[in-house]
Amino acid sequence: MEVFYVSLLCIFISSVFLSLHSLFSKKKPGSTALPPGKTGWPVIGESLEFLQTGWKGHPEKFIFDRMTKYSPTVFRTHLLGEKAAVFCGATGNKFLFSNENKLVQAWWPSSVDKIFPSSTQTSSKEEAIKMRKMLPNFLKPEALHRYVGIMDHIAQRHFADGWENRGNVVVFPLAKNYTFWLACRLFVSIEDPKQVDELAEPFNLLASGLISIPIDLPGTPFNKGIKASNFVRKELVSIIKRRKIDLAEGKASPTQDILSHMLLTSDENGKFMEELDIADKILGLLIGGHDTASSACTFIVKYLAELPEVYQGVYKEQMEIAKSKGPGELLNWDDLQKMKYSWNVACEVLRLASPLQGAFREAIADFAYNGFSIPKGWKLYWSANSTHKNPEFFPEPQKFDPSRFEGSGPAPYTFVPFGGGPRMCPGKEYARLEILVFMHHLVKRFRWEKMIPDEKIVVDPMPIPAKGLPVRLFPHNN
Ligand code: HEM
Repeated sequence: MEVFYVSLLCIFISSVFLSLHSLFSKKKPGSTALPPGKTGWPVIGESLEFLQTGWKGHPEKFIFDRMTKYSPTVFRTHLLGEKAAVFCGATGNKFLFSNENKLVQAWWPSSVDKIFPSSTQTSSKEEAIKMRKMLPNFLKPEALHRYVGIMDHIAQRHFADGWENRGNVVVFPLAKNYTFWLACRLFVSIEDPKQVDELAEPFNLLASGLISIPIDLPGTPFNKGIKASNFVRKELVSIIKRRKIDLAEGKASPTQDILSHMLLTSDENGKFMEELDIADKILGLLIGGHDTASSACTFIVKYLAELPEVYQGVYKEQMEIAKSKGPGELLNWDDLQKMKYSWNVACEVLRLASPLQGAFREAIADFAYNGFSIPKGWKLYWSANSTHKNPEFFPEPQKFDPSRFEGSGPAPYTFVPFGGGPRMCPGKEYARLEILVFMHHLVKRFRWEKMIPDEKIVVDPMPIPAKGLPVRLFPHNN
């Protein structure tokens, strides 16, 4: 009997405890739950799965698996040592893009600041804000008009040196050479291929350092990246000093490249940029524009090899333009405006093989999104694939169909290879021009076929064919 009463007492105490616990642990009115998801392993979280799906060529798998399992709008994860929420779909993109500096701001892993320190000792965030104010002036369509002819000239030299009279070529390194040569010419007027090559090597080390594990020990890619960054910045400063003298002596033109523009443009208070500051801005442009555009050019070559009817459409459009030109006459702005089908093809390539998979933001306040609470300090990620490869926005998403970009094109916030809102890529128009000039010269000269039919794609962090896309070239005049 005694045992019975003791048990009854225990049950009573337990139920009182449980009810009190549930009473006091009830959410405060108005508070909401964190987004569903899992945080993975201690410290590394889900970083490995996130990276692995890219290495296997399907970065969208990380996103879609979790959208299906947890929530199609936002899910929780843990990436690069940080608590994170991935915002999905057009609504997620719109939310992050339109809340810049209200609820969210740009965020980079701290390793980026080490490789890419700012001369003015401010953080990369503040530098980016300054950069954003200046860049549109240098990269807006009107400013780019006069660069088209220069792009055409460099492209001709690039194709003559790297492609012509060769049976086979490997496309990715060539595309990198093309975009880097253009950038050297248009940003700082370096045109001599030997000088371009001298900068390319440290620059590639710098770019690999940015995406490496941040261990600063002799010989690590991160350490090499820091050294390369110092070297490139020094080189740029000496170019800037020389240019200042040339401008003063009338030996350089105020409009010849982006460097001249930066030296001669003052801010709203009439202040000109410091030399090191300009070096950093140019370095930022080189980093932002180099591998992205070369990845896009490489995938254009890949898809045109696989889709003869698409190749034919691009060829027809480009040959009409080529035939309209006099001997030696360079491409101009109006020619590029006529390349409508070619640009639709390039957009479809950017949809299917987006050079950047997405970007991070940081929550600068606690806020609620779609019924879930997002704590201040969390890292937020938008993913191009959550819309680009989503049948809700692009029916039969794996099908290559340039007509998706005809008329008014995809719905707002669904096609986002360049991001959106105030942080949208400032080099978008520059990229459009360099990609179209590349397509013009490519199809005008060659047909080609892939030498590895099922070449694997690796996304690390940009998509590239695992062997660099070797192709067999067939010049048109043969
Ligand atoms: C196909 C080529 C390109 C693609 C797909 C691309 C894509 C992007 C994306 C997605 C962002 C990030 C937006 C965000 O944070 O939400 C970005 C930023 C940036 N891009 Fe591009 N980009 C390309 C070419 C270029 C070129 C040619 C330049 C330079 C001339 C450039 C300069 C930059 C810079 C400086 C930023 C940082 C802007 C900021 O932090 O506010 N990009 N780009």
